Amino acid sequence: MNLRTRGFHHSTMVARDSNLTIQFYRDFLGFTLLLRAANTDDPDTEQLFFGDDAGTPGTLITFLEWKNIPRGRWGVGGIHHIAFGVTSEAAQLKWKRWLNDHDVVVSGPYDRGWFKSIYFTDPDGQVLEIATAEPGYTLDEPIESLGTTVQMPRESQLRGHRDEEAIAALTHPLPVGSIEPDMRLTGIHHITGMTNDVHMMTEFYEQALGLRLIKKSVNQDDPATPHWFWANYDGKQVAPHSSLTMFGWPTSNYRARAGVGQTHHVAFRADDVEQLGAWHDHLSSMQLDVTPVLRRQYYSSVYFTAPDGLLMEIATDS
Ligand SMILES: [Fe+2]
Ligand SMILES: [Fe+2]
Repeated sequence: MNLRTRGFHHSTMVARDSNLTIQFYRDFLGFTLLLRAANTDDPDTEQLFFGDDAGTPGTLITFLEWKNIPRGRWGVGGIHHIAFGVTSEAAQLKWKRWLNDHDVVVSGPYDRGWFKSIYFTDPDGQVLEIATAEPGYTLDEPIESLGTTVQMPRESQLRGHRDEEAIAALTHPLPVGSIEPDMRLTGIHHITGMTNDVHMMTEFYEQALGLRLIKKSVNQDDPATPHWFWANYDGKQVAPHSSLTMFGWPTSNYRARAGVGQTHHVAFRADDVEQLGAWHDHLSSMQLDVTPVLRRQYYSSVYFTAPDGLLMEIATDS
């Protein structure tokens, strides 16, 4: 049986204070708070679920409230940032203005080629990005052959060559009084982590999750190192909410550390409980240490750890 996940189900991060997190993600970024409840595994820990109104997989983010736990850090085996989608560059600039006017420091918009990106952090230091839908991964390769050759950024996209002053000055010309309809975030655009071996992970994501390499490039801030992308891709299209990207740090021992302001795990979709059983057996057959099928608040899931140390989950849509 060849299993391919449709894409992200949710991403779970760690926060130090649920109320602060609700203020930020619901009141300030416009997510719907879907549930506030005790964590299934650890009833002393509160968990928050945000997403679109319908709780659509791929729009979901959850937070574990870990009080009095030190800040985590990104590194190999961890996630560096999560990007939410926005439909247009104009709306992205409104976000920049909205965030800036509320004293949130924003960098960008940077031209990443396949999309434009602004960056900021949540109250715990979790790095967030808002990325445009356009122009997309077919900018530099035809849709049938994504990920086959290395795509180098233009020099003007690289750190040290960018016009940082012009980029910093670019914003929406007027104050933004509220989250306007065109600013609505469209869910998880991509999630970016760090790995010590992009080749090994290509094999793993393909075998374990059915994800395929869609882009081989370099880190624009550190062009000597790779930046690779994988997604639910069938040669005809890249599914929305499915792009996992990794900065490659070959042989690095700088490991991620769990804690506040960090991503705890990333969850991918299974159709239903029956298919989840197949996922369990499939992952077990790869000699991975997979949990039994567990019943969560909204879904059932299994957990396993990728070879680079990243905790992953497969969760059911239903
Ligand atoms: Fe990104
Ligand atoms: Fe989860």
